[in-house]
Amino acid sequence: MAFSSRDGLFQLLISLCSLLYLRQAQSASSFGRTLPDIGLLKSCNIDKIYQFGASKSDTGNRRIENPLDLCNLPPYGQSFLREPTGRCSDGLLMIDYIGSAAGIPFLNPYLNSKANFSHGVNFAVGGSTALPVKKNALVSATRSSLDVQVDWMSEFLVSQCSSHTYCSLERHSKNLFIVGEAGNNDYNSALFQGKTIKEIKGELMPQIVQSIMHAVKKVIRAGAARIVVPGQYPLGCFPVYLAAFQSNSTTDYDKHECLKALNILAAAHNKYLQHAISAMQKRKPNIKIVYADYYNAFEWLLHNAPYIGLDAESTLEACCGTGGKYNQNSTQRCGSLNVPVCADPDQHISWDGLHLTQKANRLIASWLVADFIPKIDCKIY
Ligand SMILES: *[C@@H]1O[C@H](CO)[C@@H](O)[C@H](O)[C@H]1NC(C)=O
Ligand SMILES: *[C@@H]1O[C@H](CO)[C@@H](O)[C@H](O)[C@H]1NC(C)=O
Ligand SMILES: *[C@@H]1O[C@H](CO)[C@@H](O)[C@H](O)[C@H]1NC(C)=O
Repeated sequence: MAFSSRDGLFQLLISLCSLLYLRQAQSASSFGRTLPDIGLLKSCNIDKIYQFGASKSDTGNRRIENPLDLCNLPPYGQSFLREPTGRCSDGLLMIDYIGSAAGIPFLNPYLNSKANFSHGVNFAVGGSTALPVKKNALVSATRSSLDVQVDWMSEFLVSQCSSHTYCSLERHSKNLFIVGEAGNNDYNSALFQGKTIKEIKGELMPQIVQSIMHAVKKVIRAGAARIVVPGQYPLGCFPVYLAAFQSNSTTDYDKHECLKALNILAAAHNKYLQHAISAMQKRKPNIKIVYADYYNAFEWLLHNAPYIGLDAESTLEACCGTGGKYNQNSTQRCGSLNVPVCADPDQHISWDGLHLTQKANRLIASWLVADFIPKIDCKIY
């Protein structure tokens, strides 16, 4: 998973696109500098987005299930509407930026049955697992695992077909389906249950990828034309794991001071997932199935932190949290009483140890959008 293996020219192109994106995002007003209005994906002709996944993508489902979820308490949301929206960040998520790049409004959460779904639906639920919660032995905050979200989609699409309308494939041709990120909560649960990386790789990983691909198959059957499937971030760079699995041995850390073993696990998941995607793509040549490279997007962020306005000294520290080298104590999580917030979340990558700041979400979304464009049939370049 070498970051440096990318072609230099392509990197430069991505950086230029990102700068362009940032310039435009910064000039967008109305909600101040945080509202993205970049339209870079407009030529991709996306009219609706259907999002699946967990807390990195949830724009309000989990808070309907549980209003006291930490992500629905201050200081979550402080940088955007100045109040919690159920998003697990200080502000917007990647899906908000990707939607804006496509020129469509923020996606409403499916569980808000009165919401306007004219440009798609967000089915993601914070805390959900990729493995069906019915079958798995993992601890899960919610029962709305990926399979449940896919069932919601089926119900939703059926509800959109009036009795005299044939719901054909074409109806979905302007749609984008984003299946994930999914799996992080499964790994999280297994790691904190004390399973070894070897056990997790051998048993859990193939099942997780299979669950994700099962969801991909189902959205294809429902009429998806373009599908984005995100991989895992380098988990060993996240404060929650850095704090929990601290080691005295310097050989356990990589050049960014991230935990090697967890990054190797994430990279193995990503490799396995990409193989599965390629195989599926061969069977479905008329559909675009694109892997979203969260891993390298995040490494790009770490690598370039000082040049893109981030505090290079605290890339591995949570902004909201307390205690120790990583500002992270699992018994005093962000959103709990008296847990402090850093002075400027915009200088941080990690918001609460597990989720990214709005700034990091925006930067990673810009990297990903630039990366997608040549892959999903857009009329740019
Ligand atoms: C839903 O939103 C779309 C676009 O944002 C708008 O054109 C439409 O009128 C809205 N529908 C309702 C019922 O409010
Ligand atoms: C690291 O070293 C300190 C002091 O020598 C020791 O107290 C601690 O238990 C060690 N931690 C680990 C994870 O080995
Ligand atoms: C985490 O917080 C708890 C409760 O305040 C405290 O007892 C514990 O020592 C803290 N742990 C670390 C590693 O700071």
